[in-house]
Amino acid sequence: MKAIIVVIFALISGPLLAAEQIKVPFKLGLGKTLYDEHCASCHGSDGFGVDKKGPPLMHKYYEPSHHSDQSFYRAVQQGVKQHHWNFGDMEPVPAVSQRATGNIIKYVRWLQQQHGIH
Ligand code: HEC
Repeated sequence: MKAIIVVIFALISGPLLAAEQIKVPFKLGLGKTLYDEHCASCHGSDGFGVDKKGPPLMHKYYEPSHHSDQSFYRAVQQGVKQHHWNFGDMEPVPAVSQRATGNIIKYVRWLQQQHGIH
């Protein structure tokens, strides 16, 4: 019984600790806040996607040479037709301005770098 509890604890705390180890630089704080508010529900608070909702942005598909910053602006303004995955379409996110999107992109690019995506 004790062993089971230890294993469960390890499973829960492992990913949490891993997420905490990456310290977000102060200048990216706004981008992170906006991302957490508007994107994380589908793309994951860690950027690795959410089951049945949205794909990981921490993925080779979304490195700058494959999906430029422009594709992020377009996704937020116009939405995205399903094409790479089976999560369905992404609706536009009108609450997020161009400028806010710029901040989100800076944060996502930085997070991608931390994970060795580019
Ligand atoms: C309600 C769910 C949902 C939310 C909220 C959401 N997305 Fe998405 N997003 C998706 C899905 C689903 C796709 C994948 C479409 C495909 O390629 O099949 C996607 C794809 C994308 C893409 C790839 C665009 C392309 O050209 O292929 C980008 C970039 C993106 N999202 C950025 C964002 C950003 C930034 C936010 C927050 C402002 C956000 N998304 C919020 C669901 C969401």
